[in-house]
Amino acid sequence: MKSLGLLGLITGLFLLISACGGYGDTSAKAPTSTVPQPTIPAAEPVSDGQLLFTNNGCGACHGSEGQGTGIAPGLAGHTAGQVKRQARAPLGQMPVFPPSKISNEELGHIAEYVESLGGDHLHMSVDNPGQALAQHHWMTLFALEDDSATEAIHHIDHIASKVTGQHLAQMKEAKEETEAGNIHDAIHIIENMLAGIQVEDLTPSEMQASLARSSVLVDDIEGALHHLDHLMEQMSGDPAVASQVAEIREYLEAGNIDGAAHELEELTGVAHEEEHEEEIGGHPH
Ligand code: HEC
Repeated sequence: MKSLGLLGLITGLFLLISACGGYGDTSAKAPTSTVPQPTIPAAEPVSDGQLLFTNNGCGACHGSEGQGTGIAPGLAGHTAGQVKRQARAPLGQMPVFPPSKISNEELGHIAEYVESLGGDHLHMSVDNPGQALAQHHWMTLFALEDDSATEAIHHIDHIASKVTGQHLAQMKEAKEETEAGNIHDAIHIIENMLAGIQVEDLTPSEMQASLARSSVLVDDIEGALHHLDHLMEQMSGDPAVASQVAEIREYLEAGNIDGAAHELEELTGVAHEEEHEEEIGGHPH
């Protein structure tokens, strides 16, 4: 298992989306490396961000103004940090946009544009309710990591409206911690719940490896190191993992983002297999 398998669901719908041709709106395509000068009426100024949004195909799926379509959700209510993360390390069925397709600078403009969108916060429509719930946990985590408490609380409230019992109690606690500014505590609650609801697909250490990887992909080195620390706590006593984590740290310290991301991808596979071996015969929870 080398693939990341972040949520284990990057298959059918994406093929469907590609087949539907939403992505292939060639009339809107332009070279990604240059920003063509638009010929537009002066009355409708279009920002660089919006232009890049269109030219890179975001608008083909999400609607020309990010309002949402039958194949992809509306984008209002997302922070710039979340947009960057979604493009570099997408959740769900969205294709990835690596720096070779959209440079960091361009992505910055796109993210600013999306952040500026007004309107209601819409949600991803995932057909499997379990996946949808898991995605809201991921979105909460990313919002917390981006210091976007309002956005995090929005997702926590959404989760709270769908769950009961212990899970609901944990969401209330996560909300209280977020409101009190104890972001780190809130993150831990959400991480634990995420590992709990996805226990067959995603182990806690695999999740830390995934989080470290998505941090790396959005240039959040500090965040990546933080998740590697947690990963080591969970995998303590495993020399192979320890040496791999040490290698990743070296890459990060040397600024070798690609190297670190590549190693992390392998590591998520390793973390997955090893923990599942331990779990055979007994399901924690
Ligand atoms: C091929 C279609 C497609 C393209 C192209 C695409 N997206 Fe998406 N995007 C999706 C789908 C589908 C989802 C919902 C993921 C899911 O629910 O599985 C999504 C989700 C998102 C989300 C998270 C939405 C939420 O509710 O949390 C953001 C932000 C986003 N896309 C931004 C972008 C940006 C920026 C671009 C261009 C760089 C882009 N997308 C290009 C299909 C696409």
